[in-house]
Amino acid sequence: MRLLLADDNEMNVDLFSAALEQHDVVVERDGAAALRRALSEPFELILLDVQMPRMTGDEVCRALRAKGVRTPIVALTAAAMPDDLAPRGRQAVREASGVRALTAKRVPSILVVDDIAANRELLLAHLEQLGYDVREARDGIEALEAVDELEPDLILLDVDMPRLDGIAVCERLKAHHLRRLIPIVILTASNDKATRLRGIAAGADDYLSKPFDAQELLIRTRVLLRERELNARLDATEDVLFALARAVEARDRYTIHHAERVGRVAQEIGRLLGIDENDETSLYQGGVLHDLGKIAVADAILLKPGRLTDEEMAAMRVHSVEGERICLSLRSVAQYLPIIRHHHERVDGTGYPDHLRGADIPLGARIVAGADAWDAMTSDRPYRAGMPRDQAMDELQRGSGTQWDADVVGALAHLVSDGSVARVSDQLFAIGR
Ligand SMILES: [Fe+2]
Repeated sequence: MRLLLADDNEMNVDLFSAALEQHDVVVERDGAAALRRALSEPFELILLDVQMPRMTGDEVCRALRAKGVRTPIVALTAAAMPDDLAPRGRQAVREASGVRALTAKRVPSILVVDDIAANRELLLAHLEQLGYDVREARDGIEALEAVDELEPDLILLDVDMPRLDGIAVCERLKAHHLRRLIPIVILTASNDKATRLRGIAAGADDYLSKPFDAQELLIRTRVLLRERELNARLDATEDVLFALARAVEARDRYTIHHAERVGRVAQEIGRLLGIDENDETSLYQGGVLHDLGKIAVADAILLKPGRLTDEEMAAMRVHSVEGERICLSLRSVAQYLPIIRHHHERVDGTGYPDHLRGADIPLGARIVAGADAWDAMTSDRPYRAGMPRDQAMDELQRGSGTQWDADVVGALAHLVSDGSVARVSDQLFAIGR
């Protein structure tokens, strides 16, 4: 496949180029150059960063559509939206201005948590002088509320406080799948080794001795904020992966929104089976990304109408391992790598790539496998129309305990009968119009 990738961000270009190495990818670094290129050469897919020098992604998209170019266009943004920018997507791109804040230069924000006003004021004075945006909280509960309201880039946290102490705050934040990335500095008396150790055991990233030394404060905040920025970039990279997952779908109009539906249905199944909230998010993300590796499968195989030969089937099966490889270097996606790798295992051990059996297959992968099968059976494919829901459910029941996990099939049957699954599809149908 021949693709045009327009993005001024080096890291995104590297990531896409690596993931799309089996395709012919032409890269442009600004909007005007991308437009010129797209008007003069044929492409099968265009990936457009939204914020680019000279012309933005939506301006390029509008210009291309005005000239009659109908090539599918995928916007590279952090916001979930339909794959094609025009005509509804243009509005969506403008509304997705939150993406800009992700990359724009901004003042780092620091939350100072201490019940003693004099300590807060002292830190506040130092930090504001260094140019940071500083907020205050007087105890642990206030601190958690402040984090909920606006996630800070760094937290300076006293330990002994009324209502909820600093160690408990630290433990709670570090147990949260996203908040755990906020660096936390425990504030302790310089001779209080026990508290310092408790803080580190609770997951604190560093400690600062009272009375505060301005130089020490400066260095520690800088180091931790740099680390924080790196984590934020990893998150941005994750957004690129989601765009890539949509690019996979854009190659094949028949499976549009398949991944998004699998993610949402998997999340519903997980909720019904009683998994915790953080894992629900991982299920959704793993569900959306499960077939990312199909980017490495040739069009002739991916879009082939009719049965695949053994050789073609082997090439198709590579996609689960390939998807894991693309995501492997990204620390922030580690929790759903097993979903991507194992979503084609079968509980009787005859699946791929590792022939895992029953409970050895990670639960997330068993759930996504059920959601994926349901959606694949009930939606139209290049080579056949979608099955009626009753028939698809019979099929799943027949494979319950051999191909699919029996609990997952049971949960899915419940969600189909109470209308939850239909609601997910209807919501996406509305977005796609
Ligand atoms: Fe798959």
